Amino acid sequence: MSDKLWQGRFSEKTARIVEAFTSSIQVDRRLYAYDIQGSIAHCKMLAKVSIITAGEADTLIQGLEQIRQEIEENRLDFDDSLEDIHMHIESRLIDITGPVAQKLHTARSRNDQVAVDTRMYLRDQTSGIIYRLCRLLKTVVELADRHLETILPGYTHLQRAQPVLLSHHLMAYFEMFARDIERLEDCKKRINVMPLGSAALAGTTYPIDRAYTAELLGFESVSANSIDAVADRDFVIEFLAAAALCMVHFSRLAEELILWSTSEFGFIELPDAYATGSSIMPQKKNPDVPELIRGKAATAIGSLTTLLTMMKSLPLAYNRDMQEDKGPLFDTVDTLTACIEVCTAMLPQIKFNKANMLQAASGGYLNATDLADYLTTRGVAFREAHRLTGEAVRFALAGNKELHELSLEQLQSFCPLINDDIFSFLTTGEMIERRASYGGTAAKMVAKAIAAANKWLDDKLKHFSDSCQYANVK
Ligand code: ARG
Repeated sequence: MSDKLWQGRFSEKTARIVEAFTSSIQVDRRLYAYDIQGSIAHCKMLAKVSIITAGEADTLIQGLEQIRQEIEENRLDFDDSLEDIHMHIESRLIDITGPVAQKLHTARSRNDQVAVDTRMYLRDQTSGIIYRLCRLLKTVVELADRHLETILPGYTHLQRAQPVLLSHHLMAYFEMFARDIERLEDCKKRINVMPLGSAALAGTTYPIDRAYTAELLGFESVSANSIDAVADRDFVIEFLAAAALCMVHFSRLAEELILWSTSEFGFIELPDAYATGSSIMPQKKNPDVPELIRGKAATAIGSLTTLLTMMKSLPLAYNRDMQEDKGPLFDTVDTLTACIEVCTAMLPQIKFNKANMLQAASGGYLNATDLADYLTTRGVAFREAHRLTGEAVRFALAGNKELHELSLEQLQSFCPLINDDIFSFLTTGEMIERRASYGGTAAKMVAKAIAAANKWLDDKLKHFSDSCQYANVK
């Protein structure tokens, strides 16, 4: 292998063990397309301000395009002795174009180069994830729309609390993932800042045109401080924080699917294509997909913790520690993308066992609050109504009956204001319909929430129709 591009100052060769230890090529080779795109823009800028000639820029750009092709066709060898993707591309460019390639790195350092590559990569990935989350939410909203009459118990403390519509429950996930989308959109503003031209840390003596490079690369702004620009990984941390939270949301959904598919709950059946069997127990159908989603949330949280810990107390500006950002970042991008995809495919195929859900919502005194509410509508103060209802529940429990199974006379023994309209008042259907406060579970409120969600989603997806490449971002 030829001398390293930085060999000049050294009299001894790097130890092999050190080459292997410091190399990041197997991880950061994934950035090749962004590295080439960044170098092409840099070339054009250097030519624009006459640091290189237009002819030299053309030669370099052609060489860079050739390298892109070679990498895409798996024809470029990656080798630890060349450390990282930046060195591989530059050194191959020297092979192809000869000495003119040595001009490419004018007014640039790997410190601002890796920052620009990572930002371009993450900008695309963030858009891709937002797009995929929107598609997932379309599925969630469609499912919610189909279950405007399906009733299940809502829980607090994992104890049955009050009946709710399945659509309302599903729309809770819409809210969670919609917030994730907004967080990612916000994070993208701070990803989309162009660091190139900060050079090693202090800026450069050459008369470069950073605004032009930014324009060529589609950045919204140019970093304002060269030291910060090469030392900053806030944008990675912000993304990982948004991604970890999104994975926490997935883990909650996954946990509910796991619980609901148990014979104890019996609320859903997972599609066969998304479950696995046991190697020893023939009767088993295991919810491995949601279990893995739940497990993978741990690795996403771990990536965030890794980045925060890595950056904590690092002195300015660039430090090699920062090379360790890419593994966790790529892993989280892959994990989140895979979870969104598998959930989008699996959700519409889940079978909801409506009868079991309704049955679970119909027993267990879930209408106790409503009996108390009924009494308050008859003029009893809520605390007193609560006490009287508690006594009625105790009485019903002793007789192994539900509240609505007591006779009118029995109910009236707790409060003479009770009429026979109490029985329809205590049905799950009426209980749900009465919860028509804004954001409540009444079908008409949920239908409004669904309409608003569809409008919100269509607005987001419209924004993507021109840029569907995000669907295929790798
Ligand atoms: N591979 C390095 C990284 O990912 C690129 C920057 C190297 N800079 C340096 N001064 N050694 O962080």
